[in-house]
Amino acid sequence: MSHHLLTVDSLNRESVDHLLRVAARMEPIAQRRQVTRVLEGAVLGNLFFEASTRTRVSFNAAFCRLGGSVCDTTGFTFSSMAKGESLYDTSRVMSGYCDAIVMRHPDQGSVAEFAAATNVPVINGGDGPGEHPSQALLDLYTIDKEFQRLGKSLTGAHILLTGDLKYGRTVHSLIKLLSLYGPLRITLVSPPGLEMPSKLIDLVASRGHHIEQRDSLASDFADLDVVYTTRIQKERFTDEMNESFQGLSDDFMVNRDFLDHRCSQSTIVMHPLPRDSRPGANDLNVDLNGDPRLAIFRQTDNGIPMRMAIFATLLNVDALIEKELHPVRWYVPTQTGTLDR
Ligand code: NCD
Repeated sequence: MSHHLLTVDSLNRESVDHLLRVAARMEPIAQRRQVTRVLEGAVLGNLFFEASTRTRVSFNAAFCRLGGSVCDTTGFTFSSMAKGESLYDTSRVMSGYCDAIVMRHPDQGSVAEFAAATNVPVINGGDGPGEHPSQALLDLYTIDKEFQRLGKSLTGAHILLTGDLKYGRTVHSLIKLLSLYGPLRITLVSPPGLEMPSKLIDLVASRGHHIEQRDSLASDFADLDVVYTTRIQKERFTDEMNESFQGLSDDFMVNRDFLDHRCSQSTIVMHPLPRDSRPGANDLNVDLNGDPRLAIFRQTDNGIPMRMAIFATLLNVDALIEKELHPVRWYVPTQTGTLDR
């Protein structure tokens, strides 16, 4: 694994398996039963030039749970980029302040350009429609945990990716990561014009997976193990697309009816979130809230141990975790969130 995490392309089966194992070791810390200080004194720079809630906060929380501190900046308005500063200059400056940097930016390739100017580890927190490698890792970690619970295996699994597969960076990283495992059956369902880029389809097919494109969810998915839904990335549309796109039709709706009638009792539902809950968006339906097949909040929880694993591995403290654990001293509820796990 390189000292940056910019794309899933820098990972292989061995480095991904390592991250999955380290993330599992982070669980007692993420679940607030134990504390470690292995990153005591280290500073993370969290630079977010695009909207974010969970990625920004969970990277921040993961670094703090390892004992480090975080400095951050959000949006262009309050950063020197609003004064015309280049990625190169910002990178050189931040390298003097921080021991690791997470960056999200609206332009594809921008985080790699930033990383080229520093030897401090840089993690791509999403570069436009490019990639989102830490999300793909936490998604794979979620699938692995859910499959262990259900007694399933990734070999021969059937995974459906649906929604905006053209601009959705989470699915771009995830499909490449999944293709290191399997062999899998991958089905892609997206509205016309929002299909998965063909070079990714070709890559997955060349690795021996069965990949199929369908134009709606109105067919049988009885053997489906995972449905991974995504939001329509309207903010990345051209003006022409904005005019022609009418919103998602019912044919793409993932809801209780779809799960009950087309899938099975053991199909799990994932989404990188946020889901668009505005009327007419037809994103993942809230009628699945409370259904145990809905794994979305287990998925967000998994962002903490996986991001801790990424930091610990990049900063070379992954072997120290066990030696440094202490019990938590503050009040922790027995279960967080609502009782729908
Ligand atoms: C996504 C993102 O920003 O790429 N969310 C995330 O990071 N968990 C997905 C989206 O914006 O739709």
